[in-house]
Amino acid sequence: MKGVILHGGYGTKLRPLTHTGPKQLIPVANKPISQYVVEDLRNSGITEIAIILGNIHPEKVKEHYGNGERFGVKIQYVQQDKPKGIAHAVSLCREYANNQPFIIYLGDNLIKGGIKNHVQTFKNSNHDAMILLCQVKNPQRFGVAKFDENGKLVQLIEKPKEPPSNYALTGIYFFKPVIFQMIKQLKPSWREELEITEAIQLLLEKGYSVGYQKVQGWWKDTGTPEDILEANRLVLDELKPEIKGKIENNSSIQGRVSIGKNSTIKENALTRGPAIIGENSIIEPNVYVGPYTSIGNNCTIKRGEIENSIIMDNCIININDRITDSLIAPHSKIISNNNTPHGKKFIIGERTYIEL
Ligand code: G1P
Repeated sequence: MKGVILHGGYGTKLRPLTHTGPKQLIPVANKPISQYVVEDLRNSGITEIAIILGNIHPEKVKEHYGNGERFGVKIQYVQQDKPKGIAHAVSLCREYANNQPFIIYLGDNLIKGGIKNHVQTFKNSNHDAMILLCQVKNPQRFGVAKFDENGKLVQLIEKPKEPPSNYALTGIYFFKPVIFQMIKQLKPSWREELEITEAIQLLLEKGYSVGYQKVQGWWKDTGTPEDILEANRLVLDELKPEIKGKIENNSSIQGRVSIGKNSTIKENALTRGPAIIGENSIIEPNVYVGPYTSIGNNCTIKRGEIENSIIMDNCIININDRITDSLIAPHSKIISNNNTPHGKKFIIGERTYIEL
């Protein structure tokens, strides 16, 4: 079976981070979200993968994944000219699928425990399609499943105002090639997209077999900054502590912390896990790195406190304050200037969000 990863979309809810790269490359616990997807497919025995690229710096995706060798898979790229919906992206893979069953995996979806068992279930079944469902608190934001009184799946509705259940469709779909025939019959929805939910609904209406599995652990669609921070917490909750860097005397490491090669935690700094610090980063004396923080490579935290945040590569932080619940893009510099106590100075990009 082949895998297809959707790596497009504008990522508007994640601007300004998505001015310089696709949302799927935003790091969670120091790894791009879509890399979890590539690794999950590989760990499920799927080593032939197509990545559907969008228009937001697709070259960065190619640069990161190359031909896939580094990740133990074979990657091909398909360009989607405009984000015209998941079903449209799927329709671009007809040749690639080569009349065989395949998996569609949204590049911004994370799922605890991965999909290995579900791949086996689908392979052993006669289903024409299989979907993964997960209970959510806000089903209005997703495709939602409706069941009859015997628990039979009877309908799928995209972003219903009055959800018939709280079971959302995750962005992981198993298909036989008959799905292409359904997609051909779709019309653009209110959001001008070809909805994969409607294509699967057509399968149901025409009597094809649509199976479903309920996700037992957590599942996260990372569309907003809050989602990214939550995904970061969920992944860090399972972090394997590993210290490759240097920890100076009198500094304190508490709980599950991972520190990469050539990084240094200087004296009197406190790092409280779960937290991850990448390679070649320096945590200077008296700095506090608190729970659920990911600090990337080549960062210097000179002064200040950081908690529940993602500081991406090549950042410098030197402040008299605490940063919380924040996403800081690569090459950012945040400093407190003690000489100008009456004002804050900013040089920031379009759609920046600051809360003081
Ligand atoms: C898409 C699908 C939706 C599904 C969701 C999962 O929504 O249309 O049915 O529940 O992915 O992540 P979108 O992210 O395009 O709003």
